[in-house]
Amino acid sequence: MQGVLSVGVIGTGGIAQSHINAIKDLENIRLVAVMDIDPKRAEETAVKYGAEAYNQLEDLLTNPDIQAVHVCTPHSFHANQVVSAAEADKHVMVEKPMALTVADCDRMIDACDRSNKILMAGQVMRHYPVNLRIRQLIADGTIGRVGHLMRRRFSYFDPSQRGNNYQKWYLDLEIGGVCVLYCFGPHEYDILPWYLDSPVVEVYATGTESTKLYQGQKDSYTTIMTHQNGAVSVLSQSVVCHTGAHDQYIIGSQGSIMSTSQKLILNGKEVLVEGSASDGMKEQIREFANCCLTNQKPDANGRSVRHTMAVIEAAKCSAERKEPVQMSEFEPANR
Ligand SMILES: NC(=O)c1ccc[n+]([C@@H]2O[C@H](COP(=O)([O-])OP(=O)(O)OC[C@H]3O[C@@H](n4cnc5c(N)ncnc54)[C@H](O)[C@@H]3O)[C@@H](O)[C@H]2O)c1
Repeated sequence: MQGVLSVGVIGTGGIAQSHINAIKDLENIRLVAVMDIDPKRAEETAVKYGAEAYNQLEDLLTNPDIQAVHVCTPHSFHANQVVSAAEADKHVMVEKPMALTVADCDRMIDACDRSNKILMAGQVMRHYPVNLRIRQLIADGTIGRVGHLMRRRFSYFDPSQRGNNYQKWYLDLEIGGVCVLYCFGPHEYDILPWYLDSPVVEVYATGTESTKLYQGQKDSYTTIMTHQNGAVSVLSQSVVCHTGAHDQYIIGSQGSIMSTSQKLILNGKEVLVEGSASDGMKEQIREFANCCLTNQKPDANGRSVRHTMAVIEAAKCSAERKEPVQMSEFEPANR
């Protein structure tokens, strides 16, 4: 018998509701309390799910019934809240992006190591059934040696629009970071080395400020990544494209894969995959609870996702310098 993990959720906005709904449906985790700097939001969520409400982080972290926390706040708060939670002896699941700098990722990893606590980042796409199947097909050698992987993620993301579920902080560079890189990028840059089970060693990126929506930050990026195994990934992203796309082509020596988040085509024929991307949140939280209860390392653990965040930092740096950069610059040997 593994038991049940008692958790608190920090931030009660959009994604926190998805976390709480998943927690409600799982047998190995239960919600004890929520915390938000907006008292009304905290109270409403607490009443809806029968939890305690807090408005101060410290009050939630000193509750001895809470074994772990889910950090679901805007990006710039992640690092300090994770460090505080680890110092209060809580396991942590932090939403993407893990943090806005690699230096902050290191602080978070070190704090969790010191307290012997689990640190997992919300890389929910690692739990999409189609993505799990693609990774397996590549590992099994079904398409031979992967040479080239081309991926697109285009959307028009305007958090300032009325009726939009997203809040305006996503446009604020200090709080959200460069949106295309730190809001959508953590999913995209994470999945490529994960598919190939091969880290990125060199990054060459370029970006543009294509419209006035994201003033002072690039809203569209293309990044070419060379992996340790020699494969090349190309990722194109835009948050100001009026026609959406989220798909990829993976070309191997003996076959190829085309996919979207719900559909997989192997050598021109559709492969039926059970389950849907909407199961991802529940599966990642199930894994988090299991890992905390049995002291195992999650797949999207702090060190694994540090690599993702280092690739994003390298892409930003490459675009600024207008030249390729080596990942060794962002990944010292002791990390
Ligand atoms: N995995 C995904 O697909 C996915 C989707 C959406 C959002 N996210 C991530 O989830 C996180 C939250 O995004 P969101 O869209 O839910 O944001 P949101 O603005 O809807 O919610 C954030 C909540 O945090 C509260 N808050 C702000 N500062 C706080 C602080 N210092 N302490 C406690 N609470 C504070 C706000 O009052 C708000 O209720 C971000 O990291 C975002 O990138 C992930």
